[in-house]
Amino acid sequence: MTSGKLADQIQLPDTFIFGVATAAYQIEGAASEDGRTASIWDTFSHTPGKVLNGDTGDVACDHYHRMDSDLDLIQQLNVGAYRFSFSWPRLFPSADGQVNLAGLDFYDRLIDGCLARNLRPFATLYHWDLPQYLYDNGGWASKDTAYAFADYAKLISDKFGDRLRTLTTFNEPWCSSILSYLFGVHAPGLKDLPKTLSVIHGQHVAHGLAVQAMRSSHADLPLGIVLNAQAVYPVDAQSEDAAERHQQFHNGLFFEPLFHGEYPQQAVEALSPLMPKNFMDDLPTIAQPLDFWGLNYYTPSWVTDAVASDEPYPATRVVDREQVTRTDIGWEVNADCLTDLLKRLYAEYSLPPCYITENGAAYNHQVEEGVVDDKPRQEYLQQHIQAVAKAVAQGIDVKGYFAWSLMDNFEWAEGYSQRFGLIHVDYATQQRTIKRSGHWYADLCRRHAF
Ligand code: FCB
Repeated sequence: MTSGKLADQIQLPDTFIFGVATAAYQIEGAASEDGRTASIWDTFSHTPGKVLNGDTGDVACDHYHRMDSDLDLIQQLNVGAYRFSFSWPRLFPSADGQVNLAGLDFYDRLIDGCLARNLRPFATLYHWDLPQYLYDNGGWASKDTAYAFADYAKLISDKFGDRLRTLTTFNEPWCSSILSYLFGVHAPGLKDLPKTLSVIHGQHVAHGLAVQAMRSSHADLPLGIVLNAQAVYPVDAQSEDAAERHQQFHNGLFFEPLFHGEYPQQAVEALSPLMPKNFMDDLPTIAQPLDFWGLNYYTPSWVTDAVASDEPYPATRVVDREQVTRTDIGWEVNADCLTDLLKRLYAEYSLPPCYITENGAAYNHQVEEGVVDDKPRQEYLQQHIQAVAKAVAQGIDVKGYFAWSLMDNFEWAEGYSQRFGLIHVDYATQQRTIKRSGHWYADLCRRHAF
């Protein structure tokens, strides 16, 4: 393995891939154009009180109409890969299963546009925009949705499998289950534990069926899933049991079925009366061999027992520590936890090679005299890429790193208030300005490629 020495003591193999990431609902806009219909995020964002300032993804970064010039900007960052997601309701706008040709054409041009610019396309099938008609028919708790997902996966693999570098089933199923159905923060905004467990399980089944369908269509296409594994630590010596329960619930319910074909024993004992009927029967479908997995990492979780003694399992809560550095969204900056998390996950689970599919920071610097001087974001990225390099040096098989995000965009329940981009977006004019961090990243990628 040859090691390229990059800026600022970052050493990574020559084959290591740098990229930038986005997701359909966060950037595309054109929410009701060319046949696209509503997803649960359209419904949710249009429901008063759900998203900060009533923001929606109706226009977002207008990427649907600016795709070519956005790809030019990605090329200017000197990255080797672009991670994006397909919009399911743009491709399958109705329950009759008819494919929307305008949707296909958009992604066809996007993928060709990547290849023409030497960007490897890393695509995701589900970055949270469940078609509303599927939600109305039972959503992820219903097996019909899992079968519809497998059909969608097969279509993408048939049409684009020869041009994609990788294809991912789900982005952060933790968010599209626990954050959405238990904490009520993301669409559809429920607080219902049994439903949450059905959704977790339903998404796992959908993942397994989709992987089977895609293997039958394109055996060589590298397939994976992206998980936002939590870096869990007890906040004090009394909180070690709580940290273990937290780990079992928030990580184990995802990693164990997907990679080991079982649910974590402690969690199942506590939750089995609430689990969907006959869930054990689905485990062989769920645990499909994968070619890679993606880790999205932003911040660690310091954990202790829940305040109320009658809280259901895992009965834990996350505590904000004092006197730590935080980004504008309030998330603690801690790069060492990324190295540690990678090591812990590989020690605990049998995992294929990894990509860091998202990492980045919300800082809301504005354009001043044509410049966005976001030094803290540059520092954040630098520390975290160094943390990845450290893990690689210790033998963890990380093959690439994707900065979140290419450009400022619709940050879910936070609307447009939190800016994660390497490129600033003026939402009134849609003008893009590469930030200082973007220039720094472009320089890092140029030296790496060289
Ligand atoms: C992740 C999401 C991504 C973005 C970042 C900040 O959880 O996958 O879409 O919102 O957080």
